[in-house]
Amino acid sequence: MCGIIGYRGQRTAAPLIVKGLQRLEYRGYDSAGVAVVEKGKLRFHKRKGSIQDLIISMPELGGFRGIGHTRWATHGVPSEDNAHPHMDRSGSIAVVHNGIIENYIDIREELVKEGVKFRSETDTEVIPHLIAKYYDGSLKDAVERALKGLHGSFALAVIHSDEDVVVGARMDSPLIMAVGDGEVFLASDMPAVLEHTNRVVYLQNGDIVTIDPDGYRIWDGKGEEVHREEDVVDLNLEDAEKGGYSHFMLKEIFEQPYAVHKSLLGMPINGGPGRAYTGRYDSVKIVACGTSYHAGLVGKYIIGELSKMPVQVEMASEYRYSPHPKGNPLVILVTQSGETADTVAAAREARLRGRRTIAITNVVGSSITREVDHVVYTRAGIEIGVAASKTFTAQVLAFYIVALNLGMAGKTMNADDVREVKQHLRTLPRLVQKTLDTAPDIEKKAKMFKDASSAFFIGRNIHYPLALEGALKMKEISYLHAEGYPSGELKHGPLALITTETPVVAIAIRDHTYEKILGNMGEVSARGGPILAIGDERNHDLAKYSDEVLYMPYAPPIFSPILVGVVLQLLAYYVARDRGCEIDKPRNLAKSVTVE
Ligand code: M6R
Repeated sequence: MCGIIGYRGQRTAAPLIVKGLQRLEYRGYDSAGVAVVEKGKLRFHKRKGSIQDLIISMPELGGFRGIGHTRWATHGVPSEDNAHPHMDRSGSIAVVHNGIIENYIDIREELVKEGVKFRSETDTEVIPHLIAKYYDGSLKDAVERALKGLHGSFALAVIHSDEDVVVGARMDSPLIMAVGDGEVFLASDMPAVLEHTNRVVYLQNGDIVTIDPDGYRIWDGKGEEVHREEDVVDLNLEDAEKGGYSHFMLKEIFEQPYAVHKSLLGMPINGGPGRAYTGRYDSVKIVACGTSYHAGLVGKYIIGELSKMPVQVEMASEYRYSPHPKGNPLVILVTQSGETADTVAAAREARLRGRRTIAITNVVGSSITREVDHVVYTRAGIEIGVAASKTFTAQVLAFYIVALNLGMAGKTMNADDVREVKQHLRTLPRLVQKTLDTAPDIEKKAKMFKDASSAFFIGRNIHYPLALEGALKMKEISYLHAEGYPSGELKHGPLALITTETPVVAIAIRDHTYEKILGNMGEVSARGGPILAIGDERNHDLAKYSDEVLYMPYAPPIFSPILVGVVLQLLAYYVARDRGCEIDKPRNLAKSVTVE
């Protein structure tokens, strides 16, 4: 995951920047680079590989302002050319970028027509060229103008050899400003600068900031100069290993925009592996445990909807011992670790039954990969917290890819259908980031559960598995007894347990079941059960049916499980934290369950 850093102050910039990059190493990267302005000239140094490689090969760089970057390849292979910083043609502007420029191909084509020669395959390189095009003596104005033409997500730091300023900008990618004594830093997150200061300004989407000899100034997305409060963060260097987050789980939840992006890039549609999906099977059987099972349940709806195939989902611990009726299903085994004994055993069993098998896993070379015919890797990055968060999201994502491949192989989807789904998938990293931006509201409303002894999660259709997952996450890390139900089932029993002391989370996304779930929420309210509804920003009427509402960005209902999952993870996290639980290592649980 890319990390960026910028510095302007009275100390030599390069060593501070390199040290900051080392602190961002935990994010994962494959190349790194630094640019500084020394005596009015831009100088830079980049390397593929580790920061240590960068340091060893680095000439002495002077100057009191500069920028640095760790890159995790997305557009273009890891290489020195593709590493940041990227420069304009004249070599006076340098840019580091975290995020994705969605419309870079169009911009690149325009710039090429205007005579620009590109040195890299990256989306980022369009930015310095655009800034150069608009530069007229003010770097801030040129950055502002360039950003107007960009779609996607970015955190940027920019320098120019002729101006004593570092410019930063933020849109849907993390960027903070850390304020020291006579010096100011920009960074992807706090660990990069913790040893220098713990005064921080959290930049907001649309913000542009300048750092010059007079200090810093911030303009918001409307171009108005604004004041943002400085915060003092209560962190020490040890926390840096968790990237400044209080728990690995929180860090992993917040890594999801990148996990989604990276997973999407890594999962081929209609490539060579397309063969894996063509065969004489008549249905799909999904087999998994725990959270992966819930991802499988979501997958059932996705595959059913997109590729119109009959799908069954079974717990891995049951599959081995279940009868095997006639038919020839494609068996999909889902396990983030790839080591879960029940799931690995189920894969063997499926093969014994003569089934074609596919594994969805996050760990390259794990046991399951040796037991199946084909592997779909999610690329969520290492997950340390025992409670699955980003790997669940990546698994759900994998099911869109599997469904597309099945749809194409079975000719139930044409090129236009596929294109449409792919377009929606590309927006997900941004939507996940927007969902994460609602964390303060989730944190506030989590208080509803602090002293509860029991809670219910309800949802319908594709959101029913999310109710199960929300309840699992809650009990796993907060030790609060929680049950997930299809909301229509409440009145067939569980309603007897609803009292004023039993909070209910109602996933109420506006799909064809929306009116029904509102009715089910009415049944809860009539018994005094406090309701926390989860809806999207278009559900203006939801507040009338609930005590509190958590609003997430709108996505078409088939894609909203990804966003609802993020909300439920944060909710469980904040409840667990408020109840003083040990979040990363819940009692009795292990990350990898290698016994049956
Ligand atoms: O590694 P796997 O995905 O196969 O793990 C399956 C379950 O053990 C796992 O999802 C478990 O339920 C998690 N702790 C849930 O957060």
